Amino acid sequence: MTGIVVLGSTNMDLVAYVARAPKSGETVTGREFRMVPGGKGANQAVAAARAGGEVAMIGAVGADEFGEQLRHTLIASGVDTDLLRTAEGLSGTAHVVVDDEGGNSIVVIAGANHTVTCLGPGDETLIATAGTLLLQLELPLSAVLSGAEAAHRHSVRTILTPSPAQPLPSELLGTIDLLVPNEHEAAVLTGIADPHAAAEALLRQVPQVVITLGAAGSLYATRGAEPVTVPAPRVSAVDTTGAGDTFVGTLAVALCEGRPMREAMGWASSAAALCVQRHGASTSMPYRTEIEAS
Ligand code: RIB
Repeated sequence: MTGIVVLGSTNMDLVAYVARAPKSGETVTGREFRMVPGGKGANQAVAAARAGGEVAMIGAVGADEFGEQLRHTLIASGVDTDLLRTAEGLSGTAHVVVDDEGGNSIVVIAGANHTVTCLGPGDETLIATAGTLLLQLELPLSAVLSGAEAAHRHSVRTILTPSPAQPLPSELLGTIDLLVPNEHEAAVLTGIADPHAAAEALLRQVPQVVITLGAAGSLYATRGAEPVTVPAPRVSAVDTTGAGDTFVGTLAVALCEGRPMREAMGWASSAAALCVQRHGASTSMPYRTEIEAS
């Protein structure tokens, strides 16, 4: 294959829609409950496949009903799941609260994702045939590092979404071609709140950075060039869950097609803008025809 491999998580999202998220010690009454297939890895795979990419997913689902649904969602979106293992025990779950502004807070329980500690049989061979490897931080760091090193060995472009945010070892960052944090994640990695200054600091460790800025668009920085900001379409958000994953999956497809970064970011922003106007993670990711028409 010459497309995209995602090494990442699958979660069933258990979503409560509520006027505002409860504070510690508080109980609030929500409006609605939904179960939606998600997980940062699976979301990026679905987004990339719907945007027109040739996509395969490496990871694990649990041997439960959620696992079957998670696998089915990927297959239905056109993602190759031959190397998506079924592990003993429960699938990953994400406990999501979405408020009336469309903002969310999430607790992830790793479940089967926790079993992916290293590359399995066939994984490196698949990665070696890809154009791009997408990584996030919902699998054990040992697996993320193994995948990134394998991609690096075979000159496959690596794109890392450093989420959930955590400090990262330089041996991992040294294998990454493009880092795509949001503002919060960039601040955790650098200790710098200002995205421009954070991007500059991150360029000491990776050659290219795209910081997603929510409604303000995204910021691209690369060594030796002026940073570029690409605005996002103005839309009214009902649920921002999975918007960052939609951005990354779509961006990867555009880059695989050889589009320049600025154009790829615009395309990815259009896809994310469509995503936030719908409910749920995988359920809200747009198809290529919708992105092109927006
Ligand atoms: O990025 C959004 C995702 O984060 C959700 O789908 C949830 O599963 C958590 O992993």
